[in-house]
Amino acid sequence: MNDIAFLLNGTPVTVSGDSPTRTLLDWLREGCGLTGTKEGCNEGDCGACTVMVTDEQGTRALNSCILFLPQLHGKAVRTVEGLTGPKGELHPVQAAMVEHHGSQCGFCTPGFVMSMAVAQKNGATDHDDQLAGNLCRCTGYAPIIRAAEAAAKAPVPRWIDDAPERAGGPAPYAPASSDELAAWYATHPDAVLVAGATDVGLWVTKQLRELPEIAFLHACRDLQEIEKVDGGWRVGAGVTIATLRRAMEDPHPALAELLRRFASEQVRGAATIGGNIANGSPIGDAPPALIAMGAVLHLRMGHVRRKMALEDFFLDYGKQDRAKGEFVTAVTIPETVPALACYKLSKRFDQDISAVCGCFSIAVEDGKVTRARIAFGGMAGIPKRATAVEAALTGRDWTSATVEAALPAFATDFTPMTDMRASASYRLEAAQNMLRRYFHEREGSPVSVLEVTS
Ligand SMILES: Cc1cc2nc3c(=O)[nH]c(=O)nc-3n(C[C@H](O)[C@H](O)[C@H](O)COP(=O)(O)OP(=O)(O)OC[C@H]3O[C@@H](n4cnc5c(N)ncnc54)[C@H](O)[C@@H]3O)c2cc1C
Ligand code: FES
Ligand code: FES
Repeated sequence: MNDIAFLLNGTPVTVSGDSPTRTLLDWLREGCGLTGTKEGCNEGDCGACTVMVTDEQGTRALNSCILFLPQLHGKAVRTVEGLTGPKGELHPVQAAMVEHHGSQCGFCTPGFVMSMAVAQKNGATDHDDQLAGNLCRCTGYAPIIRAAEAAAKAPVPRWIDDAPERAGGPAPYAPASSDELAAWYATHPDAVLVAGATDVGLWVTKQLRELPEIAFLHACRDLQEIEKVDGGWRVGAGVTIATLRRAMEDPHPALAELLRRFASEQVRGAATIGGNIANGSPIGDAPPALIAMGAVLHLRMGHVRRKMALEDFFLDYGKQDRAKGEFVTAVTIPETVPALACYKLSKRFDQDISAVCGCFSIAVEDGKVTRARIAFGGMAGIPKRATAVEAALTGRDWTSATVEAALPAFATDFTPMTDMRASASYRLEAAQNMLRRYFHEREGSPVSVLEVTS
């Protein structure tokens, strides 16, 4: 097995003989004594462990607590210890945090300054989004945002200009292409595939699971492409949520906006669309949107490839139409989707999993509903279409009366459960209200709490 080689704060390092599921955070703190990077939640939620990672695709802020060492092969990592200049000069975000009183106890501060430094380097000024994955329990966010705004105007310091490490050998535990992966996985069908590790990371850090055999997908560059095809886009399974969000901003702004609410900048930069589908979660955000859009899923086992409507992939809670040794290669997103709207309801606006996620595409011609595709997350054991509601709308006049008459059909489609996120009755009522909201939005009324003013 090759060593894992990467650049750490500008210095080449190699790691050998470590478990493939050792996290970067553990290695930094316990293996290197670099304790500036903090452990808060150890599950990707708080951002205290944020580091800067640079590769051919650019510079990203990632949570080191759910980042396995092999995922760093050939990349450059910068921690808070590497943020100051060679003569101890403060990075502009550090100076701005001092100037604007952005730190009290200081526990969250290393994570914040790393997120801010990445945003500053990338010229990203949507500070609320950039910092939504960093939690602070004492300072309050206003001074921190003021610091981010102030630092945005400063030049990017040369000393954080990392070139990705040109590692000699191939990445360990990581097939170099989907062909290689297909051949290997067909003969190791019990192995665990790791894409962004934003789910699998928690199996290790929270469930303390030992993973038997493992293959990382990050070296399969051919799975990371978005290709324009006839009638849509073929999105590789390894495309991150951040990349998909950017690609969908123009053709499908409603999908892009939903993806803005997906976790945080750190999680979106690692999480893949393939992982979001393959994990079969009933509360994943992308599947209901993609089902409403009429997306098609592509799978491969060895040389055998097949495709299916995405909704057919989800069979039952925890059960998908995927054989052992078979993996997701891509999802095709149609170019034309009539009047798509996606509504995510969660307890916290940012960085929270959906209680209910409702996605609607309803075509109306000459005042009549000609086609309806409606899909929900959080309403059943799988992401699921609301076929009874669709039938209650199709062929009818697109009026408030039709919408009201269709509402009881939600109880035919769904028997939601009560859990810590929401009660069954709340979920049912919220789903019905989303259809009402969709109707009013199409009539031109402001329906978002972010738009309504007194
Ligand atoms: C803090 C936090 C917040 C989150 N917030 C959200 C949210 O708002 N919305 C949301 O939907 N999700 C959220 N998630 C869940 C998670 O980020 C997503 O499900 C993500 O898309 C998983 O992708 P990944 O690449 O990280 O998958 P991984 O963790 O690498 O893998 C997940 C599963 O998919 C399998 N897998 C991965 N790729 C393939 C493939 N190509 N073929 C077959 N199997 C594959 C793996 O074997 C594993 O079983 C959150 C997670 C965290 C930690
Ligand atoms: S320790 Fe909380 S996100 Fe990593
Ligand atoms: S300064 Fe104490 S948690 Fe943010």
